Amino acid sequence: MVNSITIIRPDDWHLHVRDGEQLRAVLPYTAKQFARAIIMPNLKPPVVTTAMALAYHARILAVLPAALKSAFEPLMTLYLTDNTQPEEIFRAKTSGIVQGVKLYPAGATTNSDAGVTDIAKCYATLEAMETHDLPLLVHGEVTDPAIDVFDKEKVFIDRVLVPLVQRFPHLRIVFEHVTTRDAVAFVKEASSFIAATITAHHLLLNRNVLFQGGIRPHYFCLPILKRETHRQALVEAAISGNPKFFLGTDSAPHSQANKENACGCAGIFTAHAAIELYATAFEQVGALEKLEAFASFHGADFYQLPRNNSYITLNREKWTVPEQYEFSGEKLIPLYANTELNWKAVDAPVKMH
Ligand code: DOR
Ligand code: ZN
Repeated sequence: MVNSITIIRPDDWHLHVRDGEQLRAVLPYTAKQFARAIIMPNLKPPVVTTAMALAYHARILAVLPAALKSAFEPLMTLYLTDNTQPEEIFRAKTSGIVQGVKLYPAGATTNSDAGVTDIAKCYATLEAMETHDLPLLVHGEVTDPAIDVFDKEKVFIDRVLVPLVQRFPHLRIVFEHVTTRDAVAFVKEASSFIAATITAHHLLLNRNVLFQGGIRPHYFCLPILKRETHRQALVEAAISGNPKFFLGTDSAPHSQANKENACGCAGIFTAHAAIELYATAFEQVGALEKLEAFASFHGADFYQLPRNNSYITLNREKWTVPEQYEFSGEKLIPLYANTELNWKAVDAPVKMH
């Protein structure tokens, strides 16, 4: 039995860290494990310009604990709206800090009201992204209320993604947090310009947990957890070694009060144990040796950024996830609160084997 693995330090290619005191509370969990993270722009108000992304970047660096200052780099994104101009894409690309533009269909999820109402309104901007080679990051769910919540991803592929890829064949697209067998098949068959992130919670859980003994708001996220066959397809993709699939936690903190609510927010906080949760999912299927490429190589390669050169070690060591974390005067309930995990990550200054 393997009791320890050392891998190149991973990156998180999809992360929500919020702002202000909430940002200060959650950022260290990510910065301790990951060298870089793609920072989602769905703040209130959303990060719609390069100037706003630069300011957010500075706020993130300002709250990084001193010990982690040189070890962590936030990679910024812009929030695409119907009004994003092609000139903004040029500014973003040349800023050196913006690595992608996020498409939220309006109304699809948390703080997506300012999102895109009709993708056709963005064609000129998408063309600029294709020209300047700035990736599009996609929340792939339709917002049509007639579509069943469990089918929103599949219908998005058919209605939006397939035509988009045909129109912009050289636009790099990250299909974020894929949750279905259909999405995995689409990405596998698509050109090398198309890749996908997979969360730890979608690898570990199926939709049954949402209703185990009652309604469980801490398992509610978007896209919603799917049935077991879809979870299995995600695991197969993650461990396949296919460079189109890589790590993106979608760790999305909301206060306990906003989760345990008659209209609870979507989002699961996983940053407290992100790489350990992925290690758990990979070990369950005997594929721990596949973790490094998924967590540390494929994303960097797709984003055309250098791979990291520091290391992290995962030790087989039991620890219990705390019941809650501090969250700017409120409580944050992490995934697997009060539950024992079998892996613990520590820094590894040099590779030990
Ligand atoms: O569960 C989710 N939470 N999905 C999203 O797309 C947004 C995120 C958030 O910002 O809370
Ligand atoms: Zn997200």
